Amino acid sequence: MDKHSMTDVAFACLFFLLTFSNAKMSNRIGINYGRLGNNLPSPYQSIELIKNMKAGRVKIYDADPEILRLLSGSKLQVSIMVTNDQISNISSNQAIADQWVLENVLAYYPDTMIRFILVGNEILSYNSSQDRQIWHHLVPAMERIKNSLVAQNIRNIKIGTPLAMDILGSTFPPSSGSFRSDISHQVMLPLLHFLNRTSSYFFIDVYPYFPWSANPVNMNLHFALFRNGGNLTYTDPVSKLNYTNLLDQMLDSMIFAMAKLGYQNVRLGIAETGWPNGGDIDQIGANVYNAATYNRNLIRKMTARPPLGTPARPGVAIPTFIFSLYNENQKSGPGTERHWGLLYPNGRPVYELDLRRNRVESGSRRLPEPENNTPYRGKIWCVAAEGAGEAELELAIVNACGEGNERCEAVDPGRECYEPVLVTAHASYAFSSYWARFRNTSASCYFNGLAIQTTVDPSHGSCKFPSVSL
Ligand SMILES: *[C@@H]1O[C@H](CO)[C@@H](O)[C@H](O)[C@H]1NC(C)=O
Ligand SMILES: *[C@@H]1O[C@H](CO)[C@@H](O)[C@H](O)[C@H]1NC(C)=O
Ligand SMILES: *[C@@H]1O[C@H](CO)[C@@H](O)[C@H](O)[C@H]1NC(C)=O
Ligand SMILES: *[C@@H]1O[C@H](CO)[C@@H](O)[C@H](O)[C@H]1NC(C)=O
Ligand SMILES: *[C@@H]1O[C@H](CO)[C@@H](O)[C@H](O)[C@H]1NC(C)=O
Ligand SMILES: *[C@@H]1O[C@H](CO)[C@@H](O)[C@H](O)[C@H]1NC(C)=O
Repeated sequence: MDKHSMTDVAFACLFFLLTFSNAKMSNRIGINYGRLGNNLPSPYQSIELIKNMKAGRVKIYDADPEILRLLSGSKLQVSIMVTNDQISNISSNQAIADQWVLENVLAYYPDTMIRFILVGNEILSYNSSQDRQIWHHLVPAMERIKNSLVAQNIRNIKIGTPLAMDILGSTFPPSSGSFRSDISHQVMLPLLHFLNRTSSYFFIDVYPYFPWSANPVNMNLHFALFRNGGNLTYTDPVSKLNYTNLLDQMLDSMIFAMAKLGYQNVRLGIAETGWPNGGDIDQIGANVYNAATYNRNLIRKMTARPPLGTPARPGVAIPTFIFSLYNENQKSGPGTERHWGLLYPNGRPVYELDLRRNRVESGSRRLPEPENNTPYRGKIWCVAAEGAGEAELELAIVNACGEGNERCEAVDPGRECYEPVLVTAHASYAFSSYWARFRNTSASCYFNGLAIQTTVDPSHGSCKFPSVSL
């Protein structure tokens, strides 16, 4: 980057002082309180748990009245969300925005310390023609919400929108970071203009787990877990900046992308980050050991005083929300999706974690040794999960055997897999057949919780179950 002018240096010093004096609050770790589970503690119990964990902030995916009432009087800073389906209406009409703010902010503020309103969730990751219309309503909706707050003379609530890493067309090396061409000028430019003008944060969902698990042969696990002891350094060939962990690389690719559009100084916030504590047999590195290591080292990095920042932006604090409070059993997709929690649904911790600073490493319970840090090699079948209901399985068989999958004939009467005539046996065959065919187009062995992966071959006699070979 260019040499700093005197003004820049003066600004940097001022910014450093401001950051440093705010460090106590701005470095407190936040928690995402997701509720996609049918076995989770009540909102009251959940908020007590979040307080006991000494979180500084809590982020929810809507503006749930009960939760916002329960947070009244607490010291937790709160981030609420405009849901994706509300964006277009709010963007179209100031009265609708005012009404939203009246019902979801003014009803609780200031007793509930609402500090962020996030408009939509990862909306640039959805790509139907309808979704693309919403892209263009995003910034206008943010403007309207901001107008409503200004009209109420509310100055301490920032408006943002959390976006995923897929908004980047290029991420590596970090200096090559740039936004996707389909959104760069139409969406990102007005968004950055808004965030810069309102001194808000550019919130991103950033998970080193995903690039590492997609390419574990060429990426180093220690680098992803902030655990290389400073031995492993990557030097960006263009910026010459040195990187010692994957998160910094991902954050800086965003910073370089913003700079290319002329916005060098919009602050970053991490709306979600974390590491899965479990997953499917075919998913690498999702375990308690890695999850604890990632989150403990993340907390140490993000609560350091003065703030560490990133190589491209040293010394600048990054407000961070960990994903997630609970393992959520109603999230679809691969097994990792249901294993991001710091807590089990019964409220017990999955591993020890001190959100204020990592003080649990020595003298604390040993973590279970990781058993899936190398890829699984062998065959996997997808079978009916224990306890799955017969009616749901019947329906799932119809779905699994339709959708271009013509491989269920083996369970027809008289064929080799007809016996035993049990719904679970037929469902297991249908799931294995479907998954073997569609795993490569990112189908999961899940079927709304009815299916689970196994390494035990369910084949019998001349009935051979299709498998996935890894
Ligand atoms: C948006 O407005 C339309 C028209 O008034 C209404 O039918 C629809 O329910 C609204 N959507 C939401 C999510 O409020
Ligand atoms: C979104 O869809 C359009 C049109 O179908 C396509 O051209 C474009 O590549 C897609 N973008 C992404 C990021 O998937
Ligand atoms: C961003 O905001 C700062 C401070 O208000 C302003 O000086 C600067 O010109 C803005 N940057 C852009 C690219 O608009
Ligand atoms: C870093 O390198 C030093 C010297 O080669 C070695 O002793 C140390 O164990 C290494 N640390 C890690 C975490 O790999
Ligand atoms: C990066 O590391 C190299 C080798 O240790 C060092 O010479 C260089 O000064 C470092 N670059 C920066 C920007 O700190
Ligand atoms: C996925 O696998 C199926 C069957 O093994 C094959 O027919 C299909 O071409 C593959 N599709 C892709 C996108 O690799």
